[in-house]
Amino acid sequence: MAGNTGKKKKINVLVCMGTRPEGIKLAPVITALKQRKNNFSFKVCSTGQHREMLDQVFDFFDIVPDFDLDLMEKNQSLGYLSSKILKEIGKIFDEAAPDIVLVQGDTTTAFLTALSAFYKKIKTGHVEAGLRTYDRMNPFPEEINRQLVSRVADFHFAPTKKAFDNLAGENVDRENIAVTGNTVVDAILWSIKKIEKYMVEIEKGEPFSLLDENKKIILVTMHRRESFGKDIENVCRALKEISGSYDKIQVVYPVHLNPNVRGPVYEMLGKVKNIILTRPLGYEPFLWLMSRSYFIITDSGGVQEEAPTLKKPVLVIRKKTERTESVDIGISRLVGTETKNIVANASGLLDNEENYMKMVSAGNPYGDGHAADKILDFILKKMS
Ligand code: UD1
Ligand code: UDP
Repeated sequence: MAGNTGKKKKINVLVCMGTRPEGIKLAPVITALKQRKNNFSFKVCSTGQHREMLDQVFDFFDIVPDFDLDLMEKNQSLGYLSSKILKEIGKIFDEAAPDIVLVQGDTTTAFLTALSAFYKKIKTGHVEAGLRTYDRMNPFPEEINRQLVSRVADFHFAPTKKAFDNLAGENVDRENIAVTGNTVVDAILWSIKKIEKYMVEIEKGEPFSLLDENKKIILVTMHRRESFGKDIENVCRALKEISGSYDKIQVVYPVHLNPNVRGPVYEMLGKVKNIILTRPLGYEPFLWLMSRSYFIITDSGGVQEEAPTLKKPVLVIRKKTERTESVDIGISRLVGTETKNIVANASGLLDNEENYMKMVSAGNPYGDGHAADKILDFILKKMS
C-alpha cells in the first residue's frame, strides 16, 4: 500500500464484538494492535449484544469502544437482534472506513457483522474459524452462524490444525487460512499474571468470602440455547444430587443473565445446601475461582479452552462439542445432559483420585499464547 509520499499506509482495522467471550478473545488482538502502531490503526465497535457481562470485560482489559450500538434488550429474539445489527452496523463501517473488519467466533454479532461487511465489500477476518460439530442444532444457532461466517470471510484464523482441516474440507482457499492458536490462551496467560499480584484482594470479595476453606470447589456454568427447558432442569437435578451426597464439596455457580437460564436455575437451586449461586463474575474472580476449583462442569466454549491452561478437568454438559482436542488429550469429558450420567461422572472424579489424576493431563491443544501476533502477521502479509 504505497502512498504518494512513499510511506506505507497503515492498515485500518475495525475490531467488532458483542458478547462476553468475544470481548475476552479479542482483547489480546486489541493489545497487539496497540503495540504495532507503525503498521496498523484501529477502532473498536461493540454491538452491545451483551451489556453488563461485556462491560465487565471492557473494564478488566481497559477497552473503551469507539462505537457502541447498545443493542441489548431483555430476552430479545435472535431475529430482532439480527435485524438491528444489520440496520445499524453499516453506518459504523461508513464512518470508520476500515480496510478490514475482524469478527470472532459464532455469535449473532459475529455472523451479522461479517455479512454486513461482505455487503459493503470490506475485507473480513474471522478469529476462531473452522470450529465444527456439523450438527446444525448443536450448538444452536452457533454451528450455523460460524459456517455462514466462513462463507463470507476473506481470512480465516483457525485455532487448531483440526479447524484448518475443517475449513480446507469445505473448499476454503488454504492460502487464506492461518493456524494461529486460540486468542483465549493469550488472554488467560496475560490475565493470570496480572491477577496473581492482587489475589489477596480478590479473595476478600464475593464469592470467595462465602466459601468454606475446607471444601473442594466444583465450578459450574451453563447457558446454551439448545439446553433451555428440560436439559437445564436435568443438570440442576444432577447438581442437587451431587451437593446432597458429598459434604466435602461446594458447588459454585455464577449464573448467566439470560432469563431462560436464570429463572429455572434460581428456582431449582436457589436454596440448596452446598450450592452457591452468584451473578456472572468479572474475568478476574472467575479465573481465580477456576484456578481454585477441583473440577468444572460447563457447557461453555471458552471455559473448555481455558481449563487445560489451569489443568482443571472438565465435564462438558452438552450433546456435542466442537472442542474435541481437549477431549482427545483427556482433560475434558463429554457427559451429555442426562442427570444420571452427570452424577456418575462427577462421583467418579470425587470418589477416585486415580481417575481424577488421569484427567489432569499436560499440554494445551488450543495455543501457545501468541495467537494475536500471528493474526496480525498474517493480515500484514496479505494486505501490505
Ligand atoms: C450469546 C451467544 C452465545 C454465546 C453467549 C456468551 C448468540 C446467538 N448467542 O448467548 O453464542 O455463547 O452469548 O455468553 O449470539 N443478558 C443480560 N445482560 C447481559 C447479557 C445478556 O441481561 O450482559 C440477558 C438479556 O435478557 C438478553 C439475554 O440475556 O436478551 C440473551 O442474550 P443473548 O446475547 O441474546 O444470548 P446469550 O444467551 O447471552
Ligand atoms: N466467564 C467470566 N465470568 C463468568 C463466567 C465465565 O468471565 O461468570 C468467562 C470465561 O472465563 C470464558 C468466557 O467467559 O472466557 C466464556 O463465556 P461464555 O461461557 O458466556 O460463552 P462461550 O464461551 O460459551 O461462548
